[in-house]
Amino acid sequence: MGMTEAHAAAGLAAREAAQAALSAVLRRRRPLDAALEDALGSISLSPRDAGFARAIVGETLRRFGQLDALIHAFVPKAPPPHKAGPTLELLLASACELLFLDVPAHAAVDAANRLAMRDAKSKHFKPLINAVLRRVAREGAALRDAQDAPRLNTPDWLWTRWCEVYGEETARAIARAHSVQPPLDLVMKGEPIAVDGALALPGGVLRLSDGVRVDTLPGYRDGAWWVQDFAATLPARLLGDVRGKRVIDLCAAPGGKTAELVALGAHVTAVEREPARMARLRENIERLQMEAELVEADVRDIARDVNAPFVLLDAPCSATGTIRRHPELPWIKSAADVTLCAAAASELIEAAAEMVMENGTLVFAVCSLEPEEGPEQIADFLARHREFRRAPIMPDEVFGMRELISADGDLRTLPCHMAEQGGMDGFYAARLVRSG
Ligand SMILES: C[S@@+](CC[C@H](N)C(=O)[O-])C[C@H]1O[C@@H](n2cnc3c(N)ncnc32)[C@H](O)[C@@H]1O
Repeated sequence: MGMTEAHAAAGLAAREAAQAALSAVLRRRRPLDAALEDALGSISLSPRDAGFARAIVGETLRRFGQLDALIHAFVPKAPPPHKAGPTLELLLASACELLFLDVPAHAAVDAANRLAMRDAKSKHFKPLINAVLRRVAREGAALRDAQDAPRLNTPDWLWTRWCEVYGEETARAIARAHSVQPPLDLVMKGEPIAVDGALALPGGVLRLSDGVRVDTLPGYRDGAWWVQDFAATLPARLLGDVRGKRVIDLCAAPGGKTAELVALGAHVTAVEREPARMARLRENIERLQMEAELVEADVRDIARDVNAPFVLLDAPCSATGTIRRHPELPWIKSAADVTLCAAAASELIEAAAEMVMENGTLVFAVCSLEPEEGPEQIADFLARHREFRRAPIMPDEVFGMRELISADGDLRTLPCHMAEQGGMDGFYAARLVRSG
């Protein structure tokens, strides 16, 4: 095989993996990271080609609403998968290459034709695929430019809620923030390392543009830093001065907040239920050369007699605050998931509250934009527990960024906050103090 053929073959393998991952996400609601791992794990691609596959799937999902509308404008009745196999995914991914990844038309269209021929069903749709993609190449950019991208790329269930909760202008700003790949934030354990082009954010966070491989950055092996979005660094800080104090870190893996608390001088007990996630937490803590007590258990099973001065609960949630990193979420989750997560969180906060001593502090956090998982959880909790009161967050605790504090005095970050510097994940956190 000559160089050019080898290059084309690798490009085709990357695209085939991208299509497989996209099918797993869209048809089987598989999370993107797992779908990519499955698709890329069984083949051997260069880092560059694997990066190309990731870019195709990530961008297709980020622009899913736009691409879907565009394809349906050209093919009003898309053939169902039981007849057409992966035809629709091929169309979506190839249109994405043409309109959002700047791939030359001949390369994207030719690859789609070849891939169509590899599947027993989609091969019958090769003429359609070819015709549609040629039209996308010719007319697609004009159609794309006329689209209402933020609205199209947000499914109705999220758009309606965000407009209700935040107002349409903010809903739009949130959706716009989702259209770009987020930066990579590193939190320094000690002295900041020097990285070309990095932006220094408050709190010892170094912001890099994404696309860098973390294990190739200086300081990775020596544990000089860990990866954590700027917004995710804020909840643990709300505990206040934890130096030399015991902190119970509940729902702890992969351990961003554990690392932060250890770095702040706390004696941390980190609790996590999933063995595989606990293994990652252990690995991270060891790489950072830190010490923490790690307890593999369900939070609800260890509530008795803890009596700690500080408890942090980073509850599992629908994670709609992290759509920038998980662009599949809007398309594989639904309002029912929010309801389920909210019910689980209310059990966890009960267990967490039992662990707090008199005058102790409980911080509850979720990376969700949904009120049921955040402020409503806290309102219900406070109504049930007269012995707890809210301790409102002060601007100096969030580096003077008043826009991150809600009217109730809770933390409410949005993906569109700090937009000029690359945004941040959506986090909610409330601080509660026990009086009796
Ligand atoms: C939002 S993540 C935590 C992120 C982590 N605090 C950090 O900063 O890196 C939620 C974690 O809670 C764990 N989890 C969910 N339910 C749990 C339970 N009942 N007991 C203990 N851990 C639980 C999940 O496995 C998951 O790792």
